[in-house]
Amino acid sequence: MTVSTFVQDLNQRRFNGKLAAPAIERLEALPDREDARAFLERAGALMQRAGMPAQDFSPFQGEMFASIASHLLPGCWGGRVPPITLAGRHVRIDQLVRKFSGDRGRLLDIACGFPPLTTIDSSSALRLWDIVGVDRSLPEYFVHDQHGNYCVYDERGEALYFQPLIPTKDSWEALLGDAESSARKFEALLAALLRRRGNGADAPLNVEHDGCTLSVHPVHDYEAPNLRFIRSDLESLVTEPADVVRCFNMLMYFDDAFRQRALGHFSRLLSDGGLLICGCDWAFSMEARYTTYRKTNGTLAPLEFAFSLDNLVPIGILTWYTLQPGTAEAHLSRPVHVPAQHVAEV
Ligand SMILES: C[S@@+](CC[C@H](N)C(=O)[O-])C[C@H]1O[C@@H](n2cnc3c(N)ncnc32)[C@H](O)[C@@H]1O
Repeated sequence: MTVSTFVQDLNQRRFNGKLAAPAIERLEALPDREDARAFLERAGALMQRAGMPAQDFSPFQGEMFASIASHLLPGCWGGRVPPITLAGRHVRIDQLVRKFSGDRGRLLDIACGFPPLTTIDSSSALRLWDIVGVDRSLPEYFVHDQHGNYCVYDERGEALYFQPLIPTKDSWEALLGDAESSARKFEALLAALLRRRGNGADAPLNVEHDGCTLSVHPVHDYEAPNLRFIRSDLESLVTEPADVVRCFNMLMYFDDAFRQRALGHFSRLLSDGGLLICGCDWAFSMEARYTTYRKTNGTLAPLEFAFSLDNLVPIGILTWYTLQPGTAEAHLSRPVHVPAQHVAEV
């Protein structure tokens, strides 16, 4: 089935054929991959279930679905969860941590991503806290090319993820139009920079040449007296118990069985009385939904489920963004869709 046929069919099944032409046009830029179609299909099913009228589906949302499916779904990255994050994204969660747990403590930021911008934010907002960022894909090498595009690599020099300096449609297309060849180019650039660096014991951790930069063990560049990082899977992480465990924008990639096991791991990482905050948070706690849990007498119990009000009349797409079938919190945060015209009247 072509992308266009798929979109037309979805329009008939989920929106009675009433999606606006500009929205359809944007959706037709969806990449021709099974996971991209499944992503849009789940979103359409949730919209239908919430009673969202077709006229509330904007061209901007169509563009977002196509763009996310083209650049950020694991299917674009060999099945790996991309390390993407955004500065300022969790500043309201940092405030929540201080409110619930005070001025001092130890916070584990599980799946911090890279560059670990939100963990750095937390270390500034919670000055008297020890902050530890944890991620399975903290890179061994970090390279910027002459155009400012960056790439992160594992220990074998394999390119794990890259992105343009300014992520526009064209700049993404330039890199991901032929992702294989971009990956090989970044790998060749790394090899050249490593040769220039040399491999003596005194080889520098940072190299600059011809407008390109290399950083070896790059998370060390971000460490501070109250901030350090551990490269580890959640499942195998061994560290001292924490007062707060935060895990954002990771569990959504996994199925229910993994999530249940993850709760056990979070509990193991918390001291008694400790707090778990986990969920999704797109930007500054807009397009957010998360759950807080308290560990009491060795047991993790939910305290509250919270979601931003824009879930009811979404401008973007996080409300409809699921990466697994049956994502429970996507259903919880959307008891009903409020048609945009009613909001305007209020
Ligand atoms: C989208 S980033 C989230 C970054 C940041 N927490 C945020 O909210 O912006 C997801 C991260 O999850 C990490 N990840 C996925 N599975 C993991 C696991 N089992 N253990 C540790 N990290 C994991 C990936 O390596 C990736 O960097």
